[in-house]
Amino acid sequence: MALIVLDHPLVKHLLTRLRDEQTEPARFRAYTRQLTFLLAIEATRGIPVVSGTVQTPLEPTEGHTLAKTVVAVPILRAGLGMLEPITDLFPDVRVGYVGLERDEQTAIARAYYRKLPPLEDSRVLLLDPMLATGGSAAQALDVLFEAGARDVAHICVVATPEGVQTLDSRYPEVEIYTASLDRGLNAQKYILPGLGDFGDRLYGTNAR
Ligand code: PRP
Ligand code: URA
Repeated sequence: MALIVLDHPLVKHLLTRLRDEQTEPARFRAYTRQLTFLLAIEATRGIPVVSGTVQTPLEPTEGHTLAKTVVAVPILRAGLGMLEPITDLFPDVRVGYVGLERDEQTAIARAYYRKLPPLEDSRVLLLDPMLATGGSAAQALDVLFEAGARDVAHICVVATPEGVQTLDSRYPEVEIYTASLDRGLNAQKYILPGLGDFGDRLYGTNAR
């Protein structure tokens, strides 16, 4: 499996702002968008292009057009915070949704929604900020591959060795793009050092 941990000063800066417990939801959402933008650029580096001629105001020259559709699939709910930068970058993107929620006691995800466009010939970007146990991402990948996906990258803000191992054992062909490989999980299956409950911090639903 390819695990790509982005090594860029701006990625480190944005991740630190996300980790900071003082960062409130409005800025948390903005930092998430900026960081996802950088992750998405890397995750789409390998997209093929076709060459052709373009007429500039001065003369014809060689140009390039993306030869593969991008499909973005956020895992609800926290993955929604990563969607806007992808739709900004790729205006022709198609968007699917997978709804999953971890049980607070068992940390096992329950599926509650799915809606997908055709996936066969596309670069599919699975969006979920937290790869903790890997259970949610693995369930979402089951859905995507059953629906015909063949070329999938998982984009997350933070990953754990456990989560990477889970995906590697089931879907070794899936590339993981992340800002950090964190240390591990606590007893409640939260990422350490992590940044807390991503969905709660994104949407202000935590009790603080
Ligand atoms: C969080 C997160 C991931 C999942 C990761 O979602 O957004 O989807 O946990 O954990 P895992 O790798 O152990 O499966 P949560 O279930 O809390 O739902 P939410 O996005 O609605 O907050
Ligand atoms: N989901 C989160 O939002 N945070 C974690 O640390 C683990 C799962």
